Amino acid sequence: MSASRPQPRPGVLDIEAYVPGKSSAPGVAKVYKLSSNETPLGPSPRAIEAYHGVADRLHDYPDGTVRTLREAIGRAFGLDPARIVCGAGSDDLINLLARAYLADGDEAIYTTHGFLIYPIATLGAGAKPVVAAERNYTADVDAILRGVTPNTKIVFIANPNNPTGTYVPFDEVRRLHRELPPHVLLVLDAAYAEYVQRNDYESGIELVATTDNVVMTRTFSKIYGLAALRLGWLYGPAHIVDAINRIRGPFNVNGPAIAAGIAAMQDTAHVDRARAHNTHWLAWLTDEIGKLGLAVTPSAANFVLIHFPEVKGRTARDADAFLTKRGLILRQVGAYKLPNALRMSVGTEEANRLVVQALKEFLGKAA
Ligand SMILES: Cc1ncc(COP(=O)(O)O)c(C=O)c1O
Repeated sequence: MSASRPQPRPGVLDIEAYVPGKSSAPGVAKVYKLSSNETPLGPSPRAIEAYHGVADRLHDYPDGTVRTLREAIGRAFGLDPARIVCGAGSDDLINLLARAYLADGDEAIYTTHGFLIYPIATLGAGAKPVVAAERNYTADVDAILRGVTPNTKIVFIANPNNPTGTYVPFDEVRRLHRELPPHVLLVLDAAYAEYVQRNDYESGIELVATTDNVVMTRTFSKIYGLAALRLGWLYGPAHIVDAINRIRGPFNVNGPAIAAGIAAMQDTAHVDRARAHNTHWLAWLTDEIGKLGLAVTPSAANFVLIHFPEVKGRTARDADAFLTKRGLILRQVGAYKLPNALRMSVGTEEANRLVVQALKEFLGKAA
């Protein structure tokens, strides 16, 4: 059968295109965007200065090997820069991993409320996403292991996960790795690692360093506040780094991102401030919203998942409409199989207090 027009490869049209968080509220003067887990502190002033510093070199191609940034990351984390690959956001790297390690008919496992880029990258590579059930909104190692078949090539875990904020203790990640067949690639997406304050958490650096089938991805979009520049990196075994370097775009990271990324990584005081702000307000939001009678999933990241009742006038959709009218933009998470919840990024003190006050009014509990 010959098609009458070009056809995308099987799987592409099964993709539900990713819908980013809203960023505007029509007719509202002041908008508080709490829908994309950006940092309320913004980037380091040193990163902004470095960005401006390259404005007169926009005609030059960037260094395609991203050497200076890989070296800065290597120094900061004690890693061999040769085992780091940078990308246009960690999305870029996740897609490259899928393209390099999945073929038609292969399977990649992710979890029920796992980050949506995983099934998108999997289908885009012609492979099949397989969903492993979660327990208490948390990835469940046994369910993932039960999902493994001879066709499984990748397991994706965001640790902590977006949009739930939950994390898998590292002993469990090690157990998952131990019990996976050695040809299965375990991708540990640690986009929120810098925010985590838990003794039993690790981002995965040691596991990557000591094994052949684990990769960790990181981003500059969250605590470093450089989401607009699209910058992420991965740390992996040399053979995986080699494969990704063969298929990535030769200039997949732009010059301003490289300059700003180096400066952001060096400003550790700014990162400490962002972490301290988050630790304080994450706990505050969890308590205050909980006191209103709404369940909040305990989060290790820079956002909270708020659950609403299935009662007319009180649903997540109703709450979203109520908050949006006040310029408070949260994230609907129906696409994550959480139609009765909203995800809220930890914002400025002002934004956090406004959301709690607005939720009080929404629930009819305002004094
Ligand atoms: C778990 C997780 N991984 C990866 C990303 C992608 O980040 P970026 O492509 O901006 O680096 C996000 C962004 O929301 C995320 O939540």
